[in-house]
Amino acid sequence: MTETNPVEQFLTAFSTSVADDTFVRLVLSGPRAGGERPERVLARLVEIRRLPHLSITLRFPTKDVTRNLAATEAGAWLREQLGKEFHSALLCTIRRDWQLAVPEAGLVRLVTHRPSIREVPSRGHDLPKRDVLDVSAREWLVGLGVTDARGKVRPAMTDKFRQINHYLEILSHLATDCGWRGAAAGVAAAAPRELVFADMGCGKGYLTFGAWHLFNRQFRLPTRVLGVEARPELVTSGNELAGRVAAGGLLQFAAGEIGTAPLPKKVDALIALHACNTATDDAIRRGVALGAKLILVAPCCHQEVRPQMSHPPVLAPVLRHGVMAERMAEWVTDGLRALYLEAAGYETKICEFVATEHTPKNLLISAVRIEAATGADAVAGTGADAARQRIGELKKFFGIRQHALDPLLAGAEQAAAVSV
Ligand SMILES: C[S@@+](CC[C@H](N)C(=O)[O-])C[C@H]1O[C@@H](n2cnc3c(N)ncnc32)[C@H](O)[C@@H]1O
Repeated sequence: MTETNPVEQFLTAFSTSVADDTFVRLVLSGPRAGGERPERVLARLVEIRRLPHLSITLRFPTKDVTRNLAATEAGAWLREQLGKEFHSALLCTIRRDWQLAVPEAGLVRLVTHRPSIREVPSRGHDLPKRDVLDVSAREWLVGLGVTDARGKVRPAMTDKFRQINHYLEILSHLATDCGWRGAAAGVAAAAPRELVFADMGCGKGYLTFGAWHLFNRQFRLPTRVLGVEARPELVTSGNELAGRVAAGGLLQFAAGEIGTAPLPKKVDALIALHACNTATDDAIRRGVALGAKLILVAPCCHQEVRPQMSHPPVLAPVLRHGVMAERMAEWVTDGLRALYLEAAGYETKICEFVATEHTPKNLLISAVRIEAATGADAVAGTGADAARQRIGELKKFFGIRQHALDPLLAGAEQAAAVSV
């Protein structure tokens, strides 16, 4: 550090910490009098489309305004703020903290301290704060290779970490919708009985561990989570890790097929994320058959509807493009899935699971059962009737003869129940 000017020293410390990834946070305070300046400015470093950005929160008395600035422009922005907009600045890096005072009159002072924080924070953008995946999640996140032993997200696992976080955020809201958790955060809605979740086609179990962690360790709702997976080596590794994290028998993995694997007699949530083709429909049918309160599916590839789909004349000029026909087939398949679930007595929502920049297979269909009981009487409500009618109309419009969820309309869903 060769500059003697404290402002230049501070700016150099800032750009160095961004360049060598030792930056923790920046706070500007003591706004100049007059004008409509924020009271404070808080900045953290985030990755957006794999490039470093400064995420800046302008804290006004009644609101926060956030903007993102490319790291390459951050130095010039900070230079504009120091002394001209704000009189105090605090820069925290994992090496040192820097405190700058630029009074209206008098000496500019720069003081350094030992670092108040010694670990680089997550660079994830729009992640929920790490209060769900806190230190109590470290052992399984390390075991699955998502973070290193110090809890730092491995660079290649940033997207996976983001996906787990987003999934748990969605699951938290659904826990409230399902009445498992009171609207007041963290409060069990009623005296908790043990919940049972089945995660079908769970793979390595990133989201299976996540669901177990969220309900048992965060919500303190006793929840038994079963991961079903076709690949035995993933079942073995999942069970080994569940043993290491002392899941107390509440997290288990079993080898099996989504359509036929034995499941507990009562399942509260049936989850199938990125199961191929009609395996998603098998999972939906099993969830309905078991009367699951929550069915959560993120479809993967869609192969059933596309070969059957005719091109209605008004859409033909658009659907002659293969990619458009492909997308329309996905759209119709997932739209129909939501309608079949509605016909079976569920209230459905379709949202984005992960940003499209990561994968085009990014829809999540959530369905919460609204009737008190299952069976023909329970699904005969007007919503269910309307859904049945819409399914018929949509299938006719696109010339779709059969759909893997047709048995739900025939009330044959009981056939899909294979329980232990
Ligand atoms: C794309 S991975 C998704 C894993 C996990 N659900 C997730 O979202 O992270 C799909 C997994 O489902 C498994 N799978 C696919 N079809 C299956 C079936 N019919 N029965 C059981 N597992 C299946 C695959 O072996 C694979 O591990």
